[in-house]
Amino acid sequence: MFPRGFAWGAATAAYQIEGAWQADGKGASIWDTFCHETGRVFGDQNGDVACNSYKLWDEDLKCIQQLGLTHYRLSVSWARLLPDGTTQHVNQKGLQYYNKVIDDLLAANVTPMVTLYHFDLPQTLQDQGGWKSPDIATLFDSYARFCFQTFGDRVKLWITINEPYVCAKLGHEDGIHAPGLREPGVAAYLVGHNMLRAHALAWHSYDTVFRPKQKGLISLALNSDWLEPLDTDCAEDIAATQRHIAFTLGWFAWPVFVTGDYPEVMRTFIEANSKKLNYTGESRLPFFSKEEPAILGTADFFALNYYTSRKVTSASGHFGSLSMKSDAGVQDILNPSWPISGVSWLAVVPYGLRKLLSYIKKNFGDPAIYITENGFAQVGSLEMEDVQRAEFYKQTISEVAKAATEDEVNVCGYFAWSLMDNFEWADGYSARFGLFHVDFLDEKRTRTIYHSGKEYAKLIQMYSSKH
Ligand code: NOJ
Repeated sequence: MFPRGFAWGAATAAYQIEGAWQADGKGASIWDTFCHETGRVFGDQNGDVACNSYKLWDEDLKCIQQLGLTHYRLSVSWARLLPDGTTQHVNQKGLQYYNKVIDDLLAANVTPMVTLYHFDLPQTLQDQGGWKSPDIATLFDSYARFCFQTFGDRVKLWITINEPYVCAKLGHEDGIHAPGLREPGVAAYLVGHNMLRAHALAWHSYDTVFRPKQKGLISLALNSDWLEPLDTDCAEDIAATQRHIAFTLGWFAWPVFVTGDYPEVMRTFIEANSKKLNYTGESRLPFFSKEEPAILGTADFFALNYYTSRKVTSASGHFGSLSMKSDAGVQDILNPSWPISGVSWLAVVPYGLRKLLSYIKKNFGDPAIYITENGFAQVGSLEMEDVQRAEFYKQTISEVAKAATEDEVNVCGYFAWSLMDNFEWADGYSARFGLFHVDFLDEKRTRTIYHSGKEYAKLIQMYSSKH
């Protein structure tokens, strides 16, 4: 059913779980700054303590073991390791923390997958221009090399950057994620570009300097909804859907897996919209320089974060503002017949994952695919007997199984988001994605398994016994 060695995991990210935002010499990150400004996050909440995993890692490990996970995806905090963002100054305490996490996982027979960047840029680097500055690529590369050098003897699965789309768009166009910039139609493209350059530099460093000895794999995690035309017989909706994919998943997957450059339709539509708006600045979508290491081929597997699906319709002519949506000329909606989870953007569409996996197989060269995130949120009244989420996991994983067997997609692993309830960015603690409940009112941040956690553990056992 699933290949032997299939990775059964759960994922977390440093800022969302660690807390200890100032402990032992950690530097501030853009999320520390952002949350400490009023009006940014639901209820003005922050990740100062979060699940307190910096202090309570032993508790997390127990949760991982209770689920019977074979893999655990975590992120390391750049500012905890390198407080000012550069390798000039290493925070030994931060290093010890991650060394212990990695060693403990391996001792428990759990394989770590480590993300280098999950939304939390050191504030000092933001002060120098952050992801908008071209210099960020080499700074990121130095940080990545430092991590390969330090942890690479034990870590064999790496993600450079998590969800560049979200960092670029939500952080620099919509202003709802750190660093909270609202510069529509310009900054997001620049940030995405520098993220691709940074990712590629780190991949090449790994490939040439570290891989020969360490023998690991490295990629970047791309988020994508499954997109389908609102009216499947309407040519405009079909074209709009393709454009929407190009402007979201294609923005990063096209350069890395297909051509080394952005999808052509992105450039044509951006240029056309610029003209319509009499925009006279430089091309908003930057060009890759021939002098820099190639972008094409810089992923050893496809890392996919999938949460939901959307119906797409054309909106060309309706917009005409300087923004990504307007450039793409699309609108998307959730199908009203799809059940909604706790958060408004997340409709439950398990079949969408199967379709997306096939799409990736077909369009991106039949790569090995890890589903690096997939999950379901509860909001409001707390249900420890969360049957809806348990059902969600059962159905979604059965769609992944169909993709693996019937569609012959090369799926290598599945990571549930998330191991435990945590700080859900702009939604603070209001959205609970965990397989374990975390009591945020209790100083001990007690973790208690949900019904869905128990069911996920059973699914792992059931599928693992069917080889
Ligand atoms: C994707 C992000 O990587 C993760 O940090 C976030 O919590 C989940 N989506 C849920 O929104």
